[in-house]
Amino acid sequence: MVKNRIVEITGTKYPFILGPMRLITLGEMAAAVSNSGGFGQIAASGLSSDRLLLEVKKARALTDQPFGINIPLYRKNAFDALEIAIDAGIKTITTSAGNPAKFMKRIKEADLKVLHKVSSKEMALKTQSCGVDAVIATGFEAGGHVGRQGTTTMCIVPQLADALNIPVVAAGGIADARGVVAAFALGAEGVELGTRFVATDECPTPDFFKQLIVEAGSDSTILLGKDAMPIRVLRNRVVDMIQNPDKHQEDKHLRGADADAQYIQSGGDADTAIMPAGQISGVIKQIESIGKIFPELMKGAILLTQQLKTMFGGE
Ligand SMILES: Cc1cc2nc3c(=O)[nH]c(=O)nc-3n(C[C@H](O)[C@H](O)[C@H](O)COP(=O)(O)O)c2cc1C
Repeated sequence: MVKNRIVEITGTKYPFILGPMRLITLGEMAAAVSNSGGFGQIAASGLSSDRLLLEVKKARALTDQPFGINIPLYRKNAFDALEIAIDAGIKTITTSAGNPAKFMKRIKEADLKVLHKVSSKEMALKTQSCGVDAVIATGFEAGGHVGRQGTTTMCIVPQLADALNIPVVAAGGIADARGVVAAFALGAEGVELGTRFVATDECPTPDFFKQLIVEAGSDSTILLGKDAMPIRVLRNRVVDMIQNPDKHQEDKHLRGADADAQYIQSGGDADTAIMPAGQISGVIKQIESIGKIFPELMKGAILLTQQLKTMFGGE
């Protein structure tokens, strides 16, 4: 059992968090991660309040371990999601995509712990002054939405660890024990993994998405929407079409697809779906069972730390 400020906040065995993924990390996946010793969470993104409640009940039936909800704060039903968490007896939530300030009164009143996602030092300092318990620093290499600033995990984590009094969780570019040890060396007290969990047996996403991740190389992802809401996704034909519309004038299968290019969980195939994934895809070589990922990360991190100690001249 690790003892640090993040496990105090999450109430879990490991300071390892399942990254919320829209319409992917639902009740079953959150419970499976929590049963393995990590902090599972249900992404509220894309769910109605009724559906969110259903997923919370599902998770509750599948685990007696702590799990959370990720609430994107810009959503109209963000307050509803917060009340659902409170009613369900959830102790820790994460928030993203918005300013936590106006939610803090209710969060504190309900004695909830909250970790908020940030991508810059300025945002992190503001967030800390709102009274959140920890920040999740998302680097530019992460899958899904990333900050416009373009700062990588390697650079944002030590800056936040130096600047903040509250603990920092590193998100983006971590899929194995090397990434975990690196993040902790940079000053993180926890890690959040997203892409690694897409390539799992139990992940409710089409098999071709999982397969594309295990086949990915070092440059298989690209950033879409650089100046508005940047999102890191796997390269495929529809992404190429969005970037180079002239090249695809004759492409019947894809014509018009950029107008309604679909998020992977809403439909489409390997050519037409938008599949968020991080640069770390290139390191992921196998589809694993969810329950093995965090315990193996911990084992690997202990071994690697011992090897590093020897390498640096320790006992
Ligand atoms: C398919 C996918 C969907 C995601 N959806 C969300 C989301 O709905 N909300 C959110 O806060 N982050 C989302 N993320 C980001 C993850 O929660 C996590 O922070 C990120 O994946 C960590 O970086 P990594 O992919 O390098 O592990 C998503 C990531 C992926 C890969």
